[in-house]
Amino acid sequence: MYLRNTWYIAAQPSEVGAAPLGRTFLGEPVVLFRDERGKAAALADRCCHRGLPLSLGQVTGGRLQCGYHGLEFDADGTCVRVPGQTRVPPGAGVRSYPVIERHGWLWIWMGDPGRADSGLVPDLAWRENPEWAVVEQYRRVGCAYELLIDIQLDNTHAPFVHPDTLGSSAITDTPPKVRRTAGGVRAERWMMDVVPSPTFARALGTGDNVDRWLIWDFSPPSLCAFDIGCALAGTGAEKGDRSRGVTLHTMHFMTPETAGSCHYFWSVGGAPADDDVAAARKAEFSRIFAEDVEIVEALQASREAALPSRRIDVNADAPVIQARTLLDRLIQAETTDEAL
Ligand code: FES
Ligand SMILES: [Fe+2]
Repeated sequence: MYLRNTWYIAAQPSEVGAAPLGRTFLGEPVVLFRDERGKAAALADRCCHRGLPLSLGQVTGGRLQCGYHGLEFDADGTCVRVPGQTRVPPGAGVRSYPVIERHGWLWIWMGDPGRADSGLVPDLAWRENPEWAVVEQYRRVGCAYELLIDIQLDNTHAPFVHPDTLGSSAITDTPPKVRRTAGGVRAERWMMDVVPSPTFARALGTGDNVDRWLIWDFSPPSLCAFDIGCALAGTGAEKGDRSRGVTLHTMHFMTPETAGSCHYFWSVGGAPADDDVAAARKAEFSRIFAEDVEIVEALQASREAALPSRRIDVNADAPVIQARTLLDRLIQAETTDEAL
C-alpha cells in the first residue's frame, strides 16, 4: 500500500522532451509528455482502443498519438482524433494525472485529482539559490522505496559504508535529538570539536577539528532533506555563524515503482556557484549514493531469498522507526478513509 494523495517526483524535467516517457509509479504505468505549449502532462500508459502502451507512440502537435492505430490524446487524456473517421466515440480517453514542475523536478499526484493542491509540493527553494551549485541525478533502484528511506535516515551507516568520504565515528558516538515537526520528523546531531570526515577535510582544506552538524527532515511520503556541514571548531556554527565552514543541502526522494523497485532522485547543493566545483561534487556524491544503492539492493535480494527471521533493533534505529511509523500511520489513515 502506498500513500496516494501526495506529490511524488516523476522525473527530471529534461527527461520529458520530444518523445513520450513511460514510467511506472505506485504500480501504475504512466506516460509523460509535453503539450504544444511545452507543459508536461501525465496519462495512463494504456490506449483505450486495444491497450497498447501509449509510451510506444509519439507526440505530434502536442498530442500523444498511439503507435498502433494512431488514436490521438490531449493533455487531459481525452481522445481527440481517430484516423479514418470524423467521429470520436463518446467518452473515449484515458486517465490523466495532475503534474507540476517545481524546484527542478516534475511532480505527479497519483491519488484523487480533486485533492491535488500545488501548495503541498515540498519547499526545496534552496535548489534555486543563484549562489549555489546544485547537482542531481535520477536512477532506478531494485529495492522497495522504504529501504532507501531507511538508509538515508540511518546516519550511523556512514563510517562503514562511506569510510573515505562522509564516514566518521563522531556520528555513531553522538545520538541525535529527534522531534516531530508540523509535517514530519526532524533529527539533529551536533558533533563538537571532532575530526572532520574525509569529504569535509577536503572541502575545508584542513584536517583540524571541526564542529559538525547533520540535520535531517523527513516528510512523507519519502522526502529526506539534509542540512549537513562543518565549521572550524569553536567558531560559533552551532549558534548560527557558519562563515568558517562548509554547508551542503542534500535531498533524496524515492517514488515507488513496484513493491520491489523505486525511482531514486537526489540532489546536492552548496556554494560556490562554480561549474568545476559542481562537477567534482556530482562525481563524489554519485559515488557515495551508489554505495547506498549497493547496500539496499543487496538487502532487497536478501529479503526475497531468505525465510523470515528474527530482526532486532538497536538504539540508533529510533529516528528511522519514528519516521517510518509516521508514514505507515498516514497510509493506514488514507486507506481507512477510502474504505468508509
Ligand atoms: S491500440 Fe491504440 S490506437 Fe489502437
Ligand atoms: Fe549513505
